[in-house]
Amino acid sequence: MDFILNEENEMIRQTAREFAEEKLAPGVAERDEKMIYPGEFVRELAELGFFGIFMPEEYGGAEMDSISYCIAIEELSRVDASVGVIISVTNSLAAYPIYVFGNEEQKQKFLVPLASGEKLGGFCLTEPGAGSDAGAQTTTAALDGDHYVVNGAKHFVTSGKNGDIFIVTVVTDRSKGIKGTSCLIIEQGTPGMTVQPPEHKMGIRGSDTHAITFEDCRVPAANLLGKEGDGFKVAMSALDSGRMGIAAQAVGIAQGALDAALKYVHERQQFGKFLKDFQAIQFKLADMDTRIEASRLLLYRSAAIKDSGKRFSKEAAMAKVYCSETAMYVTNEAVQIHGGYGYTPEYPVERMMRDAKITEIYEGTSEIQRIVIAATLLKEWAQAHS
Ligand code: CAA
Repeated sequence: MDFILNEENEMIRQTAREFAEEKLAPGVAERDEKMIYPGEFVRELAELGFFGIFMPEEYGGAEMDSISYCIAIEELSRVDASVGVIISVTNSLAAYPIYVFGNEEQKQKFLVPLASGEKLGGFCLTEPGAGSDAGAQTTTAALDGDHYVVNGAKHFVTSGKNGDIFIVTVVTDRSKGIKGTSCLIIEQGTPGMTVQPPEHKMGIRGSDTHAITFEDCRVPAANLLGKEGDGFKVAMSALDSGRMGIAAQAVGIAQGALDAALKYVHERQQFGKFLKDFQAIQFKLADMDTRIEASRLLLYRSAAIKDSGKRFSKEAAMAKVYCSETAMYVTNEAVQIHGGYGYTPEYPVERMMRDAKITEIYEGTSEIQRIVIAATLLKEWAQAHS
């Protein structure tokens, strides 16, 4: 593996960093406090090509590699993790499965507007009774002529209100268990689809999260992604890419917290010297930095394996679990370094700690990532020893 980033990787880091510092930083605290959606910045990022970063140019994308994608999310999340997840969900959970499983007509109709940033994507898998147990879906889709009639409720949908194109898992044949799950592409505003009021969350408060209900919602049968029964596979493979995006978000949050701590140790004096001159603080900074670099390596490795065309479920899970736990560790230490001030919104580390927590939960909890890693590891061992 090449440890040196290429020119394109460096270019997107610079573009994303400048955008984050100039545009996102000034209002991030207020958006967090008042739950304000960063609409104007999302539009600007769309124009800059951030919504189809690794999609081919023929479908409106920027055709960059997946490391560039991770870097973009990392840099935006370093300043505003809410913007990071909006970018990740459209790229990974909406555009990616259409690219991999969609037919040409679906790609032209749905992928092109997503990848060009004209439309925003969302992903509807979680239900009140189907969280980690993603196979326990109850939302149904019954074929009626050339439409599916969808009934049920999806929870915790990122971009639920502002999104335009949603990947929705539905049960088309209950007798077949997860093999009776399918994926539909459903457009915002389809009659029978209702976006519920926003969730009041601990963190990533600038991104909108909603439940969406479907009541006799008629969806063209042409919007079936893949074949009937492919839904679980489609959703899980979208989540492989999604988990990489969340891992990138986590690295960004951790880096933001370390940067804030570094600034603070140069400003704050106690016992007649700056915090930076205490070895206890230096050791904290060293551990924070080391864990962030280790996280970044796992993340970029998962991205490189994705681009090689190999299955990257285990690597994405490793990146997600390690990067998100790093984000929690680093933000916790950053708050500790700030002392009492770190416990107030006067400094950004308090928000970063709240934002970090979700990275251990959504798109598969840390426990689910360990299940994926262990299952793959044991399978690989069995194959090697058969
Ligand atoms: N790619 C392709 N196929 C996959 C796959 C992947 N990554 N993972 C599993 N599959 C396939 C398997 O090959 C298998 O197919 P076959 O039987 O044909 O071999 C089938 O799917 C079932 O796989 P498993 O036996 O591994 O499935 P399982 O029932 O044991 O459960 C699980 C797997 C890992 C626990 C899974 O349920 C899971 O990941 N749960 C967590 C769900 C999750 O991440 N939810 C987050 C929702 S999104 C969100 O957070 C909202 C947002 O807007 C950000």
